[in-house]
Amino acid sequence: MLSFRQRLGLVHLSVIVVVLALAAFAAYWGLARAVHGQLDAALLALAETEAGMLAEEQVDAVHVHEAPAARGGPLSFVRLDRLVQIVDTQGEPIARSANLGAARLPAHATTMAQVEKGQVVFETLHDFGEEPTRLVTVPVRTGNALRAVQVAGSLDDVHSTLKAAAVLFVIMSAVLLLSVGMAGALLTGRVFHAIDDVVDKAHRIGDADLSQRLPHPGTADEIGRLVDTLNEMLARIEQGVGVQQRFTADASHELRSPLSRLRTELELALRRPREPQVYVETLRSGLEEVERLSLLVEELLAFARLDAGQERERVERTLLNTLAEEAMLRMEPIARAREVTLAIDAPLPVHAKVAPGSISLVLDNLLDNAIKFSPVGGRVTVTLAQQGEQATLRVRDQGPGIRSDELLRVFERFYRGPSARSGNTPGMGLGLALAQAIVHAHAGTIVATNAGDGGAVFDVRLPSIG
Ligand SMILES: Nc1ncnc2c1ncn2[C@@H]1O[C@H](COP(=O)(O)OP(=O)(O)OP(=O)(O)O)[C@@H](O)[C@H]1O
Ligand SMILES: [Mg+2]
Repeated sequence: MLSFRQRLGLVHLSVIVVVLALAAFAAYWGLARAVHGQLDAALLALAETEAGMLAEEQVDAVHVHEAPAARGGPLSFVRLDRLVQIVDTQGEPIARSANLGAARLPAHATTMAQVEKGQVVFETLHDFGEEPTRLVTVPVRTGNALRAVQVAGSLDDVHSTLKAAAVLFVIMSAVLLLSVGMAGALLTGRVFHAIDDVVDKAHRIGDADLSQRLPHPGTADEIGRLVDTLNEMLARIEQGVGVQQRFTADASHELRSPLSRLRTELELALRRPREPQVYVETLRSGLEEVERLSLLVEELLAFARLDAGQERERVERTLLNTLAEEAMLRMEPIARAREVTLAIDAPLPVHAKVAPGSISLVLDNLLDNAIKFSPVGGRVTVTLAQQGEQATLRVRDQGPGIRSDELLRVFERFYRGPSARSGNTPGMGLGLALAQAIVHAHAGTIVATNAGDGGAVFDVRLPSIG
């Protein structure tokens, strides 16, 4: 199985090879056309010169104009390797250049037919002489007589030029392939080096040192963005793990305090024989601590289930009015003890898609707080309403309210406000955190604000349909 790097290299190489092959082929084709064109033009020029001279001559004195050397001028290289022949309409030679010797240039019937129509004909002769030859036949009309001048030249030079060009193109392509391949390998090498760095570092980042971050390549490209995203994710994980660690530490602390109090009380009672009354009191106090402990364990368990997404209770269409009334009935004794009045403002039935048991727990916690922080003789109101696709639930009290800097913190696990800690108000700081976790698990929201007259207001929104 090829690695990603090898696959990328292979794709690059195939693309380069295809592009180079196409470019080399196009260049070769262009060159071939140009070189052939050049030979054709030279042959035609010579044929037309010969034709021009032929037109001025007497019909009975036709001859091929041999090399200019015969005229006493310098030797013309142009004519050196050209074979010239003048033919009549039947294709029969009338005159031939000396270099043709006994041979004659072919003048096929098809060629002559075209010549009669006044066309210039180019042909490539593969079986004439030793070398492939190019032949041009140009019609010449003198008076009534139609003749044709044929000029042939060897294609040998053309072919050797093209052969040399092909070799050159192959060498150039190989060099280009090598250099582009090397440049590509260098570039991808750098990219993969950066990725390897990130992978190495990611391997070394363990649970213990989540504060470390992946090395940034210093570029804003895909790798830079990937590293940024991974580092942001690491920051979120670090924060999440931190919250979890604090929660575990706080939970252990909360468990340890009542346990050590219980232990001390039991040890003291057992130190020497005591009156039955003392034992009863010790047992009662111990029972209180045990109740507190079991409540804490219950809540911790509820958190663990919510965190693990294991809240199994079925979500169903629930009439919130009933849940609120039941919660108020449960809380009535505590409210009465503090002389707090509980009221409900829900003129219409309000439904929500919720797990009834969990939402009852939310209501219990909100009412417990409202009663706990209400002044003697205060009033706690529960308001229910339907707003579009959402059910709203509001619990409002006439207590001291919540400081603005605490409005978000009250939902943290084990967070207790200064007034709660100093005022000897019972509690562990888990009620609102649990309420929030339950509401969020229902895709709802819970917000704390303060009423105009100073009391605390908790607004819960839950989905009604869906
Ligand atoms: N109705 C309220 N009025 C004023 N402060 C409140 C009110 N409700 C909550 N708070 C503040 O928010 C803190 C956290 O509340 P939360 O319900 O989470 O904990 P708790 O009531 O102190 O303990 P627990 O609910 O675990 O018994 C409280 O300690 C208190 O400072
Ligand atoms: Mg509470």
